[in-house]
Amino acid sequence: MRWADDTLIALNQRALPLKEEYLSLKSVDEVVEAIGVLTVRGAPLIGIAAAYGLCLTTNLGDDALFADSCRRFIDIRPTAVNLRWAVERMAGFRTRNLRCDNLRELMIEEARRTHAEDAEMCVRIGESGNSIVPEHCRILTHCNAGALATGGIGTALGIIYTAHFSGKRVEVWVDETRPVLQGARLTAWELSKAGVPYKLISDSMVGHLMAQGRIDLVITGADRVAANLDYANKIGTYSLAVLAKYHGIPFYAAAPSSTFDPACPNGKSIVIEQRPENEIRYVGQSQVAPSDAPVYNPAFDVTPHELVTGIITEKGILRP
Ligand code: MRU
Repeated sequence: MRWADDTLIALNQRALPLKEEYLSLKSVDEVVEAIGVLTVRGAPLIGIAAAYGLCLTTNLGDDALFADSCRRFIDIRPTAVNLRWAVERMAGFRTRNLRCDNLRELMIEEARRTHAEDAEMCVRIGESGNSIVPEHCRILTHCNAGALATGGIGTALGIIYTAHFSGKRVEVWVDETRPVLQGARLTAWELSKAGVPYKLISDSMVGHLMAQGRIDLVITGADRVAANLDYANKIGTYSLAVLAKYHGIPFYAAAPSSTFDPACPNGKSIVIEQRPENEIRYVGQSQVAPSDAPVYNPAFDVTPHELVTGIITEKGILRP
């Protein structure tokens, strides 16, 4: 993602891995839509997109209009707290600079800083997480918490890249992550590009692999971490945590401080986003269920802190 000529240029993640296509987003409507349909996705990246997107508000001096843009970004995906975090940061910055003639330029600089700081946090998460990765390690990750999901090298994948490029023998198990296949489409694409050894599996294979002793460590990303370290992440994360506990496998989440919500006491208070029914009835473009099959499609689940070995942040590792 980058900003150029009053436009947010974003890789279209819906088209991956078949096509590498960049979209030019020129209005608040277009950025909100891109976040809603997962063209741009991943908790830190949607926060960064919202920060840039707010700069596209037609009249930044108009309080009501700006508040409307803020509300639309916060509401579009309710689980990832990074959206609210970025909107509050930009809104506070705007208030402090409201009287400046060059408000738009200043806001764009602040959005760029938000982006650059996220990249820096990814590097530090990679470094602190590398300390828990043994010299030879078979790591399971879920969904995509990589460069595609952040402003930098990623959180969970940032740790994997750091371990791999520091010379450790890292092998990654990538689960597909139904319904929209972020593992198969995005994490596999990223790891292929980086030359990190991995194998793709279906979500249903994880228990079998753990029972065979072929997974040493699990690292996922996070969308919101509550004050007691319960955390929301892509649907399926909780099942992996239960399996890891049963098999005695260390289970970590990786997240920057922008993903922490200290006002949220525990996982029960986290709102879970519901996604369109056709994400379940279809795999990609292919329909795999009756058109009228009743569907339930929560995008995230909550993993209670009892199942979490630690949360790896840019400031070190938190243990519940
Ligand atoms: O629905 P998505 O693809 O935005 O969900 C992404 C995840 O659940 C990631 O694990 C999380 O946002 C962390 S990304 C560093």
